[in-house]
Amino acid sequence: MSDKPGTGTDRRDFLLKLGTGAGIAAITVQAGASMRSLVPNVSYDSPTTVKLGPTSEFPEGLKFLPDERLFVFRDGNTFHAVSAVCTHLGCTVHAEPLANPQTVDDDGAAVKLTHRFLCPCHGSRYRGDGANVSGPAPKPLAWFRLSLAPDDGQLVVDLADAVEHDFRLTVG
Ligand code: FES
Repeated sequence: MSDKPGTGTDRRDFLLKLGTGAGIAAITVQAGASMRSLVPNVSYDSPTTVKLGPTSEFPEGLKFLPDERLFVFRDGNTFHAVSAVCTHLGCTVHAEPLANPQTVDDDGAAVKLTHRFLCPCHGSRYRGDGANVSGPAPKPLAWFRLSLAPDDGQLVVDLADAVEHDFRLTVG
């Protein structure tokens, strides 16, 4: 007994091909996923190390860098950097010069305070060394490591490297 066209054999062939195709597709997807797991994830986020410019462009006192949301302080040939990112919900704090600069003991380090910081969003206030003194801010402003670029001597900040308040970069 033979199948008529469009019945038994054709249907079996069709189902066989369909099953084979689905199997190949499943294996291909699985193989692709397996191969992808062998490739390391690459981060295309912006680097955390940023060149800020030659030290000659930093005046005595404070300079605000809006792109990095950073305050860079210069005291003669020493530099340190304080984050302008409020520790409450991340608004940018403003610097306000003190009428009477003072020196305070900050965990054993003498820090000259020339400014204080105010957050415009919910009113947090910080001392010039970044210590939170009032408002909802839960912790001090971060300090970040500064260094000099080996190739051109520019000031460099590492926004992923928080440092203690006794950190200073001294340039020659
Ligand atoms: S974000 Fe600064 S006080 Fe809320």
